[in-house]
Amino acid sequence: MSEIPNSTQPDSLAIVIMAAGKGTRLKSRRPKVLHEVGGRPLLAHVVAAASRLVDPAHIYAVVGHQAERVREAMASTGIKFVDQPEQRGTGHAIQCARAAIAGYQNVLVLSGDVPLIRTETLRHLIQFHQAQQAAMTILSAVPDDPTGYGRVVRAAPSSPEVAAIVEQKALAPDQLSIGEINSGIYAFKSAPLLAHIAQLTANNVQGELYLTDMAGLLRAARERVVALKIDQAAEVLGANTIAELVALDTSLRAATATRLMATGVTIFRPDTCVIDAEVEVAPDTVIEPFVQLLGRTRIGTECHIRSYSVVENCTLGNRVLLRQSCILADSRVADGAKIGPFAHLRPGSEIGEDAHIGNFVETKKTRLGKGAKANHLTYLGDAEVGAGTNIGAGVITCNYDGVNKHVTRIGQGVFVGSDSTLVAPISIEDGAYIGAGSCITHNVPAGALAVGRAHQITKEGWASARRARKAAETKSQ
Ligand code: UD1
Ligand code: CA
Repeated sequence: MSEIPNSTQPDSLAIVIMAAGKGTRLKSRRPKVLHEVGGRPLLAHVVAAASRLVDPAHIYAVVGHQAERVREAMASTGIKFVDQPEQRGTGHAIQCARAAIAGYQNVLVLSGDVPLIRTETLRHLIQFHQAQQAAMTILSAVPDDPTGYGRVVRAAPSSPEVAAIVEQKALAPDQLSIGEINSGIYAFKSAPLLAHIAQLTANNVQGELYLTDMAGLLRAARERVVALKIDQAAEVLGANTIAELVALDTSLRAATATRLMATGVTIFRPDTCVIDAEVEVAPDTVIEPFVQLLGRTRIGTECHIRSYSVVENCTLGNRVLLRQSCILADSRVADGAKIGPFAHLRPGSEIGEDAHIGNFVETKKTRLGKGAKANHLTYLGDAEVGAGTNIGAGVITCNYDGVNKHVTRIGQGVFVGSDSTLVAPISIEDGAYIGAGSCITHNVPAGALAVGRAHQITKEGWASARRARKAAETKSQ
């Protein structure tokens, strides 16, 4: 068996991903391959699987419908693009990639809407293709329900060779019982593919050029066409409708939860949790039901993530307690911190070691030092809070003057009394003390007390006198 091409033989294997289709059956304005499963576009999954096999410089996505949008979404991956201005079928998509394919000995063709394909399976396919010395190798499977897929017609029962692929709509009555489906993933030898691809015709119900017809064409040209049947049909299911997309999303998330549990993470009722494919969680962390962990979230060991929290693109250290119903986005939480319930960490929040963010506290672009606390009903925006500082209930940083945002600096060991408003830009130095109910508009030096509130007036006996007067008035009426 020959080796899989690697970076030392860069021109031997190209990967072409067909991603130009409109996705009519989704009934959506968004291009099909940008619909998401597991929190990532379909095409991004396919590109990720392909990139683990060859360098992105050898991956070509065929784009057409809303090509600009698809290119933009994939720009950071480093893959190349081929235009298919009119979508005249999968065979036409590959015709459009002719020039790219010509530089390689073999080409792996993937479908942008078959996202669960694993790199291991692609590697197996290319090895099998080379061992079989085939011109075309079709990746096939036998799913529970083959309806809608093209079927693999073997040259003879249990032969590795394939006579043709027949699309669902063209199945003859005696072919309806064929359970083996075409996954839409193929390996080709470039030379025979390029030699015969011009022979495709649109002589079918859809009036399109079918790449699947290459099986019959190559066989007629006495080239070897084989199929590699895989056991896990779930890996090659496609997404043509919203229902199919949601089914893929469910199976992908189930796989992610299973992967995490296998590494020592406890997930209670994993069927209720939404965990994106790239999320990482260290062992001994417990995740309660109805939690969402999204994007590039990383969670350390011995954390406890309680129900109804949504965490997106955040890094949590070790032993972090996230109480119920917290929303965290693009933020960092250090070891031992306690957050919530009902806390909202907006982008740019950095919560220090052992710090506490309590009930109904909102933070944005705010750094809280080690052991600092903001336990109740507080807004901290564009703020720096030093270690050990206590922010009382209802404290608000007034960071916005209607035009610009300003910074509030609070030092270490500061005590900010409840219901104070801190009008930024402002600085409260280490160890200062702010009386409750203050409106602070001037900087407060270290160790000082600042009280910014009206003086209290107390009138002895006033209330009882008033009550007595009212009572007398009622009686005399
Ligand atoms: C295709 C196969 C079918 C197989 C199934 C597996 C054909 C004719 N049929 O059917 O045998 O069982 O995939 O999922 O190939 N695309 C382009 N340009 C086009 C048309 C399509 O790039 O002009 C892209 C689409 O964006 C999609 C992929 O090719 O990513 C497959 O096209 P789709 O229309 O979904 O084919 P199926 O009907 O699913
Ligand atoms: Ca499809």
